[in-house]
Amino acid sequence: MLLLPALLATTGTGTGTTQAADTPFPGFPSPWASSTNTSDPSWADAYAKAVAFVADLTLTEKVNLTTGTGWQADRCVGNTGGVPRLGFRGMCLMDGPVGVRYTDHNSVFPAGINVGATFSRQLMRLRGEALGAEFRGKGVDVMLGPVAGPLGRVPQGGRNWEGFSPDPYLAGVAMAETIRGIQSRGVVACAKHYILNEQEHYRGSVDVRIDDRTMHELYLWPFADAVRAGVGSVMCSYNRINGTYACENEWTTNYLLKNELGFQGFVMSDWGAQHTTLGSALGGLDMAMPGDGGPPPYRSWWGGALSEAVLRGDVPQWRLDDMAVRIMAAHFKVHAGSNYTSRPDINFSAWTNQTVGYLHPSSNTSLATVNEFVNVQSTHAALIREIGAKSIVLLKNAHSLLPLHKPPSIAVIGSDAQDPPHGPNACPDRGCDSGTTAMGYGSGTAEYPYLISPASALLSHSLSHNISFTNTSSNWDLPTAMSVARNASVAIVFASALAGEGYITIDGNTGDRNNLTLWDNGGALVRAVASVNPRTVVVLHTPGPVLIKEMESNPNVSAILWAGYPGQESGNALVDVLYGRVNPRGRSPFTWGETGDDYGTELMWNVGEDPRRPVQRFEEGVFVDYRWFQQPGNGRVARTVYPFGYGLSYTRFRYADLKVVRREDVPGRFPPAEGMTGPAPTYGVVEGGELARYTPPIGFERISPYVYPWLNSSEGFVAGGGRGNSSQFPAAATDGSVQPVLPASGASGGNPGLYEVLYTITASIRNEGEVAGTEIPQLYVQLGGEDNPWGVLRGFDEVELEPGETKTVTFELTRRDVSNWNTATQNWEITDREKFVFVGSNVRDIHLNASLPAPVGMAWRIG
Ligand SMILES: *[C@@H]1O[C@H](CO)[C@@H](O)[C@H](O)[C@H]1NC(C)=O
Ligand SMILES: *[C@@H]1O[C@H](CO)[C@@H](O)[C@H](O)[C@H]1NC(C)=O
Ligand SMILES: *[C@@H]1O[C@H](CO)[C@@H](O)[C@H](O)[C@H]1NC(C)=O
Ligand SMILES: *[C@@H]1O[C@H](CO)[C@@H](O)[C@H](O)[C@H]1NC(C)=O
Ligand SMILES: *[C@@H]1O[C@H](CO)[C@@H](O)[C@H](O)[C@H]1NC(C)=O
Ligand SMILES: *[C@@H]1O[C@H](CO)[C@@H](O)[C@H](O)[C@H]1NC(C)=O
Ligand SMILES: *[C@@H]1O[C@H](CO)[C@@H](O)[C@H](O)[C@H]1NC(C)=O
Ligand SMILES: *[C@@H]1O[C@H](CO)[C@@H](O)[C@H](O)[C@H]1NC(C)=O
Ligand SMILES: *[C@@H]1O[C@H](CO)[C@@H](O)[C@H](O)[C@H]1NC(C)=O
Ligand SMILES: *[C@@H]1O[C@H](CO)[C@@H](O)[C@H](O)[C@H]1NC(C)=O
Ligand SMILES: *[C@@H]1O[C@H](CO)[C@@H](O)[C@H](O)[C@H]1NC(C)=O
Repeated sequence: MLLLPALLATTGTGTGTTQAADTPFPGFPSPWASSTNTSDPSWADAYAKAVAFVADLTLTEKVNLTTGTGWQADRCVGNTGGVPRLGFRGMCLMDGPVGVRYTDHNSVFPAGINVGATFSRQLMRLRGEALGAEFRGKGVDVMLGPVAGPLGRVPQGGRNWEGFSPDPYLAGVAMAETIRGIQSRGVVACAKHYILNEQEHYRGSVDVRIDDRTMHELYLWPFADAVRAGVGSVMCSYNRINGTYACENEWTTNYLLKNELGFQGFVMSDWGAQHTTLGSALGGLDMAMPGDGGPPPYRSWWGGALSEAVLRGDVPQWRLDDMAVRIMAAHFKVHAGSNYTSRPDINFSAWTNQTVGYLHPSSNTSLATVNEFVNVQSTHAALIREIGAKSIVLLKNAHSLLPLHKPPSIAVIGSDAQDPPHGPNACPDRGCDSGTTAMGYGSGTAEYPYLISPASALLSHSLSHNISFTNTSSNWDLPTAMSVARNASVAIVFASALAGEGYITIDGNTGDRNNLTLWDNGGALVRAVASVNPRTVVVLHTPGPVLIKEMESNPNVSAILWAGYPGQESGNALVDVLYGRVNPRGRSPFTWGETGDDYGTELMWNVGEDPRRPVQRFEEGVFVDYRWFQQPGNGRVARTVYPFGYGLSYTRFRYADLKVVRREDVPGRFPPAEGMTGPAPTYGVVEGGELARYTPPIGFERISPYVYPWLNSSEGFVAGGGRGNSSQFPAAATDGSVQPVLPASGASGGNPGLYEVLYTITASIRNEGEVAGTEIPQLYVQLGGEDNPWGVLRGFDEVELEPGETKTVTFELTRRDVSNWNTATQNWEITDREKFVFVGSNVRDIHLNASLPAPVGMAWRIG
C-alpha cells in the first residue's frame, strides 16, 4: 500500500480500457457471489444477510460501499462511504501486517518472515487472534494483511519480510491460520497483494509474464489457502500481468480468484492501483481505494463515475449489486451473531496524535474528539516475546558455545544492538537506519509502544546475573570493537540489513535491497571481532538471506543466529535463546545461498526500451528458492550455505519408523466440478428514470475534497472522456446469464476434492539430548519428472520432546499436495510418475524416505 498523495495524483491519466487481447481463458463475465452460494456453507449465512441488506439499498448507496471517500477524507487509511439512512457507517481499513498502523497504545508483532520461521500453526493462529483483537479494539473493520505477495521470488524484494516464506505451502498455512485468527476477532482480513508484485522497482508499471502452471503451483497457492480459510477481502496489486493491470485483470481476478477459487468476498484495489472505470468494474474489482485519484469532474474512477456507468448500461446492475453483496457478505461473515449497527466505534485517527482533530482531514472539517488513546495491547507482549524467541534460527553453534552459562563477561558490539538514538519511531514509516532493526520500512509498519533493544536486554540480564557487560555501538570504529571484543569472554556482534517499500529510499536502496550483503560495514565488523575473539556470536536482523559464507566458515565465529524482524520484544526474545530459557527451534523459511547469482532469479533493475511498460518474464517457473538450489546439474546444490528449513537446537533428535498408509476409500481420480451457475441476480429496484434521482438530496452540504456516489448533473452524463464504453469489451463482460462451472472450482479454495486426504504418513522422533527441545520435522514430496523440483514441502509440525522422549508425528497428504496443474484440462491431476516422500529436519537433511504407493485406481509409470 502506498500513501503518497503525489503518486495518487499521477494515476489520474489512464486511457480508458486496457484489456489483454489474447487471454486463452474465459475471464468474463465477472463471477457473481451467488454462483456458488449453495456449495459453501461457511458463507451462506453472511451471504443471506448481505442480500437482505443490499436489496434495500439505492444505486448511490451501493456505489457508496464500493468507493473510498478519498485520501485522508476520513480517519482511517481507507474509508468507504456509508449508508446513513440505515445507520451504517463507512468501513475503516487500516494497515498493516505487524500491528495497527498510525496509532498508539498498539503492539508491534514479529514480522511475517519470523512467523514463517516458527513453522508453528499454533503461533500463527495466536498472532492472528491478537492482531485481530487490536484492530477491533480501535474500531477497524478491515485489516490490510496478511501478505502472500510478494511471495519472495527474488531475495532482494523489498517487502518479502511482510510475508512468510517463498515456499507456497508454508506461506499458505501461515495465511490460513493468520486469517482465521484475525477474523475470529470480528475483523475482516485482507490477503494481499494479489498477485505477482514481486519487487518494488517499477511495481506500478511492470508487466509480468507467467505461465499458467507456475501461477497455480507457486504464486496462487497461498491465496487458495487464504480463500479456503474464508478470507473476507483480497487486495489486487500495482503491477500488470500479461499486459493488464492486476486491478482490472479478468484472468487473475475473475477467472482464477472468483471463479476457480470460488472467492466470495470482495477485491479492493491497492492504493491508486485502479486505472479505469469500466475495466476495473468488469475485470472484477469490488472496492476502489482510496477512492480519489481519477480524472475530473469526479476525481475518482468510481463514485459518481460508477453511478453514471451503471445508469448508462456500461456496467450491468448485477455487477454493482455483486460488489455490494460481496462487501457486505465479508462484513457479516466476521460479525456473525451481531448486527451491523452494533459495530464498535472508530476511536482513533490515523492522521493526528492529538485528542481533538478533524474527522475529515483532507478538507479540515468537523473538529471533534478523534483520539481516545484506547490501549489495545492486552497481554500481547508475552506472545510477541514468545514468537520472537521461537522464530530465531540458530544457524551455527560450534563447540556448543550456546547456550551461554553465566560467562564472566560479554561484549555487545554494533549499532544494530542499540536503542535507536532518537527513539524507535523517530523516522516516519521506519524510513531510516538507526539503532536495532526490528521491522522493515514502508506501509507495513506500526508505531512501537516501546522497543527492547538487544543491548538493553543484555545489560539488564548481565546486571541481574553478575556478568560484566561492555558495549560499543560504532560499526566503523573497528579498533574499539576489537579491543572491547578481545577483553570479553564472549563477544556478541550484531549486524543488519533493511528492506521496505519503494516510496522510501535508505542509503540508496529504494525498497528492494541493492545487494545481499550486510549494511553499515557489518561484514567487516564481524570479521574484526572474530579476529580477536574465538567465542564470537553473530546476531543478524535481516529481512531474508544475506551472504554469510565467510562467517559460516570462520572458525572464530562460533555461533550465528538469524533473528529476522522480531518486533517490540526483540532484545528479550534474544536473551531467552542466548541463555537457554528457550531452546532454539526456528527454521529458516528461505535458502541461504553463497552468492546472489545462485538464486537463479533476478530483480528487474532497469527497464528495456519502453520505460512505461517493462516486461518481466518469470522464466524460472516453479524453480524458486530451494526448488532451484536443489536442482541437480545447475551446480547450486553445493552452493547452499544453509538450506531451507534449517535450524539447530540445543538438543539432538533421531528419526525412525516411517510409515505410509494409503487411504483405500478415496480414489486418485476425482470428478471435476460441473454444471451451471444461476443467472446473475440483481437486488432492489432496477435503476433508471430521471437523473435527478441520483444527485445529492436538496440541502446536502458537500465537503471538498470528498468522493461521493452522486451524479454531478441531472442534465446528462459528465464523466465522459477516456472512460470508454462496454462495446470495447467482449460481449461476455456484461453477460449475466448462467455460466459453466470451472472443473477446478466448487467451493472456497477450489474443488473440495482437492483437500481430501489420500495418505497418512507417520514417523517417530526421539530427543536424544540432555535438554527438552522442539523438533520441526518436515515432509517433502517428489512429484516426479524433470519439470518438477526434487521435492516440495507438503507437511511440517512442531514436536516438543523431553530428553529421552519419543513421539509420533503425523502428516496428512491431500490430493492437492500430490497433484500438478494440468494446463490443458485446467485442473489439478495426479500424474502417473512415481512419487516419493522424504522426512527430515530440513530440505537437505533427510532422515527417512519412502515410495508413495499409487492412489487407488492408479498405477505409476515406472522409468
Ligand atoms: C500469459 O503469458 C504467458 C507467457 O507469454 C502465457 O503462457 C500464458 O498463457 C498467458 N496467460 C494469459 C492468461 O494470457
Ligand atoms: C455516502 O457516504 C457518505 C459518507 O458516509 C455520506 O455522507 C453520504 O450521505 C452517503 N451517500 C449516500 C447516498 O448514502
Ligand atoms: C441491531 O441492533 C440494534 C441495537 O441492539 C437494534 O436497535 C437494531 O434494531 C438491530 N437491527 C437489526 C437489523 O437487527
Ligand atoms: C474503542 O473501540 C472499542 C471497540 O469497540 C471499544 O471496546 C472501546 O470501548 C472503544 N473505546 C472508546 C474509548 O471509545
Ligand atoms: C505527535 O506528532 C507530532 C508531529 O508528528 C510529533 O512531533 C510528536 O512527538 C507526537 N507526539 C506524541 C506524543 O507522539
Ligand atoms: C488543513 O490544515 C493543515 C494545517 O493544519 C494544512 O497544512 C492543510 O493545508 C489544510 N488543508 C486544507 C485542505 O485546508
Ligand atoms: C551502548 O553504548 C552506546 C554508546 O556506544 C550507548 O549509547 C548505549 O547507551 C550503550 N547501551 C547500553 C545498554 O549500555
Ligand atoms: C560477581 O562476579 C565477580 C567476578 O566474576 C565476583 O568476584 C563476585 O563475587 C560476584 N558477585 C556476586 C554477588 O556473585
Ligand atoms: C581491556 O583489558 C585491558 C587489560 O585489562 C585494559 O587495559 C583495557 O582498558 C581493556 N579495554 C577495554 C576496551 O575495555
Ligand atoms: C550493500 O548495501 C548496503 C546498504 O546500502 C551498503 O551498506 C553496503 O555497503 C552494500 N554492499 C556492497 C558490497 O556494496
Ligand atoms: C445459487 O446457486 C444455484 C446453483 O448453484 C442457483 O441455481 C441459484 O439461482 C443461486 N441462487 C441465487 C440467489 O442466485
